[in-house]
Amino acid sequence: MSKIYNFSAGPSVLDQSVLDATAQASIEFKSLGMSLMEMSHRSKHVMDMVVETESMVRELLEVPDGYDVLFLQGGASLQFAMIPMNLLGKKQTADYTDTGKWSAKAIKEAQPFGNVNVACSSKGDVYNHIPKELNQSQNAIYLHVTSNNTIYGTQWHEFPNPINPNGFLVADMSSDIFSRSIDISKFGLIYAGAQKNMGPAGVTLVIVRNDILGKVERKIPSMMTYQIHIDNKSMFNTPPVMSIYGVNRTLNWLKKIGGVKAMTERNGKKAKKLYNEIKQNPSFKSLIREEDRSYMNVPFIFANRGDESEFLSFCDSRGLKNLKGHRSVGGFRASIYNAMPEAGVDALVKAMRDYQ
Ligand SMILES: Cc1ncc(COP(=O)(O)O)c(C=O)c1O
Repeated sequence: MSKIYNFSAGPSVLDQSVLDATAQASIEFKSLGMSLMEMSHRSKHVMDMVVETESMVRELLEVPDGYDVLFLQGGASLQFAMIPMNLLGKKQTADYTDTGKWSAKAIKEAQPFGNVNVACSSKGDVYNHIPKELNQSQNAIYLHVTSNNTIYGTQWHEFPNPINPNGFLVADMSSDIFSRSIDISKFGLIYAGAQKNMGPAGVTLVIVRNDILGKVERKIPSMMTYQIHIDNKSMFNTPPVMSIYGVNRTLNWLKKIGGVKAMTERNGKKAKKLYNEIKQNPSFKSLIREEDRSYMNVPFIFANRGDESEFLSFCDSRGLKNLKGHRSVGGFRASIYNAMPEAGVDALVKAMRDYQ
């Protein structure tokens, strides 16, 4: 296979070791004469693999006691509804920060379940920054943040604290989980679709502090009840075993290269290189406020007018793929998730220089 660099925002690049292992497992898993896709999720080998994956999550993110780790389906999008369904009573209030399209979707999905207070919004500035002033409710059950805004390229580098002493943070970490060290104890619930930093699409990670559950009165369908998934160890129904195996291999790779701490350094170095180039190259500029820039998704545009499709073709011919900005913002976007090697960023920087 010729080497390309895939800058897609998700599903996105996976390490070669993950592709090799999942390809092999789809033919035969652990010399058992069967594909992993053909095996019962209740067989010992599959159950052991899922347990191992959970323990890798706990180890790599240093998940404290009192938290459950779940592998669910329905993507981060289902979590937008499942969170308020399980945590927000009809007469209660939750605070939401509006920092991009995904936050806005989370807000919309929460509204049927209780009072939703939008504590801040950068929509008026095309989501080019993370608001620093929050108008929180005194009694909010939780404060929701989207830790990294995939489309606009902003990131919470410091998380806000809920003003309600009994409140807790809820975070959509779909596009930056495992990319930086996080103090999990600051959060009541963290969720993330796998398909950016964790593995293939089809599985969603949920990390939930167990004392926040069981407090709302409404009837909730079993598939959407966290406690039922906890009681059944993520096996209430048939889980997406292949996707979980992709997560397993990705986390093993992450551990091998030094875990989240080493990854934080690596990602910092990659982002710095790219932002420096955007700053010093007269052809390009960033519209995102400097202190809020994402280490994962780097949108940029032409400094003056230019033919975007020409630059995209120029990159494409060098094997630099999927650099088109999101359809709602245009321009370019380089997603430089964990599995994007520094050499990929170097190749992009060189292409920007040569183009200029
Ligand atoms: C920050 C964020 N939240 C949620 C989603 C939606 O995730 P899913 O497709 O897993 O529902 C995405 C997808 O790109 C995302 O980037």
